Amino acid sequence: MKTLIRNIGLLAGITDTPRKEGAAMSEVGCFRNAWLLLDGDRIADFGGEVVEGDAPSAVDREIDAGGGMVLPAFCDSHTHVVWAGSRELEFEDKIRGLSYAEIAARGGGILNSAALLHDTSEEELYRQSLARVREVMAKGTGAIEIKSGYGLNTADELKMLRVIRRLSQEVPALVKSTLLGAHAVPAGMSKEAYVRLVCSEMIPAVSSEGLADFVDVFCEEGFFSPTDTRRILEKGAEYGLRPKLHANQLHISGGVQAGVACGALSVDHLERTGEAEIECLRGTATMPTMLPGASFFLREPYGNASGFIREGLGVALASDYNPGSSPSGDMRFVMSLGCIQMRLTPAQAFNAVTINSAYAMGVSEEAGSIARGKLANLILTKQEFNTPGSIAYLHQTPFISRVFLKGRVLA
Ligand code: NIG
Ligand code: FE
Repeated sequence: MKTLIRNIGLLAGITDTPRKEGAAMSEVGCFRNAWLLLDGDRIADFGGEVVEGDAPSAVDREIDAGGGMVLPAFCDSHTHVVWAGSRELEFEDKIRGLSYAEIAARGGGILNSAALLHDTSEEELYRQSLARVREVMAKGTGAIEIKSGYGLNTADELKMLRVIRRLSQEVPALVKSTLLGAHAVPAGMSKEAYVRLVCSEMIPAVSSEGLADFVDVFCEEGFFSPTDTRRILEKGAEYGLRPKLHANQLHISGGVQAGVACGALSVDHLERTGEAEIECLRGTATMPTMLPGASFFLREPYGNASGFIREGLGVALASDYNPGSSPSGDMRFVMSLGCIQMRLTPAQAFNAVTINSAYAMGVSEEAGSIARGKLANLILTKQEFNTPGSIAYLHQTPFISRVFLKGRVLA
């Protein structure tokens, strides 16, 4: 079926490049007074005042964008949306002054979520997770990476990953899946024994069911060292799982170096970095990914995104949607924090939540920009939102008129 979207005030995010770095992060390809043709679930063609030629007329349906903007749906390359129950009580502990690390050391945090998840059926876990995915799709997320990591034993990690697979089959968003067995050391086990279990049992089991695209480790003091990390990432790679990594959230941990050495697709968090991390990332295929929602919620420093870009690197932004450090998956909020707190220009923040986040989850051939042949994952905005910057600036005003995922209007 061919659908023509016409009367588009600004078609934003046109690019064929798989990622943007340095000065290119300030460029957003745009056509004014544009049209966009969808064929089934794909973008077939587009045009506007800067290209010759009229909009096609032989189409099955036409949609009037009402002079609003059309942009690629957000890509969220780092989430933990499959979790059970709530950690609201820890929210109060945080307000009273306990840090993320202190809550974790008392057996709360990730271990708390693991206990809740263990006692929740796969069906119920799916139901709770689906509600979160539906919420973020309605907020404009068209591609989402989801991690395991609240299982902390093989059976429960598999349970989480099956829920992620079912989500990928049932929802119109593009879903990628990551094994994060090494998220915390489970109670009653030494770290060494657990790393062995992840390598010798969990990775082979996950791979034999084809349940994950990526492997991740929480490389952090009190969790897993760079040496543990490399062992796990190398084992994952043997089984065809590309590394992504939690690095430098609470300390300068050596995580960036471990990730780059293992060919990670992305290194994520980066609240704490220096010159060495920038030099290590330069010229690599690894996308530095920052999670300003976690900085906001934990009152931690924001990553040095503008410094990275000045040094010629690319940056992606993602939500980290999870119950402990970032209980929001709103990518528009992430974009606004990128501008307000990290001093990214709107154009830089726009590229960080679209094409670069697509790259960081391995889908930049399919999503993250307006390009012929890509999935028709789109946001149509209300008429008054007529620049990418307006979305970040009027940060609480509803801006979406319609979301299209795989060529269909989200109900
Ligand atoms: O990315 N820091 C490690 N993992 C998550 C938080 C998980 C949790 O607290 O439940 C994060 O922030
Ligand atoms: Fe995370």
